[in-house]
Amino acid sequence: MEAHFTEWLNLGIRWIHMITGIAWIGASFYFVWLENNLNRSNPREGLSGDLWAIHGGGIYHLEKYKLAPPKMPENLHWFKWEAYFTWLSGVALLLVVYYLNPSLYLVKPGVDLAPAAAIAIGLSSMAVSYLIYHFLCDSPLGKRPALLGAVLFVLIIAAAYGFSQIFSGRAAYIHTGAIIGTIMVGNVFFTIMPAQRALVKAIETNTTPDPLLPAKGLLRSRHNNYFTLPVLFIMISNHFPSTYGSQYNWAILAGIAILAVLVRHYFNTRHDSSKYVWTLPAAALGMICLAYVTSPAHRAPAAAPVAAVEQPASETVAKVEEVGEAAPAEHTSSGNGAAASSAEGGDFAKVENVIHERCTVCHSANPTSPMFSAAPAGLMLDTPEQMKAQAAKIHAQSVASQIMPLGNITQMTQDERDLIGSWIAKGAQIN
Ligand code: HEC
Repeated sequence: MEAHFTEWLNLGIRWIHMITGIAWIGASFYFVWLENNLNRSNPREGLSGDLWAIHGGGIYHLEKYKLAPPKMPENLHWFKWEAYFTWLSGVALLLVVYYLNPSLYLVKPGVDLAPAAAIAIGLSSMAVSYLIYHFLCDSPLGKRPALLGAVLFVLIIAAAYGFSQIFSGRAAYIHTGAIIGTIMVGNVFFTIMPAQRALVKAIETNTTPDPLLPAKGLLRSRHNNYFTLPVLFIMISNHFPSTYGSQYNWAILAGIAILAVLVRHYFNTRHDSSKYVWTLPAAALGMICLAYVTSPAHRAPAAAPVAAVEQPASETVAKVEEVGEAAPAEHTSSGNGAAASSAEGGDFAKVENVIHERCTVCHSANPTSPMFSAAPAGLMLDTPEQMKAQAAKIHAQSVASQIMPLGNITQMTQDERDLIGSWIAKGAQIN
């Protein structure tokens, strides 16, 4: 019952998080686009430019004032609640998913860290990161945007590396996202909003606005814009175990973040020239390279195989793929005579035992773990047929990377992983 309640709580908060996040980032994209596409030739008196657009069956005419209209409108729309609610719902989600079950989702298996301490590190990292960021922006470095960007990048990846040493891969990624998200919302709350309030107040009281404040607001809003694509990747990264599940997950994140920032830069500058068109194919090529280096064939084994299985990794991978496509059994089991090398690898009874002991508390039609009311990710491993059908996934999550069992809560040993690996390498025979 409790598990069911948590699932719906998760659903509700996640949904809100997505909706407000789309509203926030959508507005950020839209206003940067608007600013870049204003027609600045011959603007009307007091304007810096205008823009015509058609959308949803209507034609719009937008005008940007150099500073302010002669008379302030009664209704001036502000954009802040989408940012605040994205952050609040994000923190709530962090609580429901990671902090309610720290030993399962948060702490890296094998790391001696009390759950309360892990949570404290997670929460304080957000505040500390914002303070460091704020300090750097206000320091002399703030006058050199490119250098500042590089320093921030290195610091964020250093944080990701630190997280990856104590948190599970997923938690390390999500906390990196959380510190970036906190910096973004901090920019809205502590810099952009006060700057805008000061501007409006100056206009209303007919005094000269301090030009420093809007300039600061603009720099921070630019930063936020460059943060968006990496953050969006982090938010969906949960679905991609070959990224967060890797031993070098922080480096993969660094690679993806660089590509994302390149792409954002192209979109932010393309009204000026096509100088940065190269970033698009470069980013695509970069993604292909990342896919290549993260492929199981190139992944260093997380821990050197202790027992059996003398097959080269690449061969194992080929086999796993074949199994995934349900290739004929004779074909997958031939393996260049390797099948004969170990009777142990083919012993399905042992494999079945291991899976029942280590996996089916959760992955079952009727999970016995109190934390789940239904099989997580819909994956059930109750019967030999289910085990065979899911062999490729089992390999990816519990042999190639050691994401499963979650938090290694059922204490699967390396020997057991090797046993399953060798069973799959030999064609995942179930009789
Ligand atoms: C404590 C509960 C638990 C145990 C034990 C556990 N898992 Fe999982 N497993 C999960 C959860 C939760 C997910 C869903 C993760 C997510 O949110 O993406 C999952 C996801 C998976 C997936 C991905 C399924 C998909 O389609 O995305 C695979 C494969 C998997 N587990 C295999 C295993 C194997 C193999 C074992 C045993 C060696 C195991 N799990 C043990 C909880 C568990």
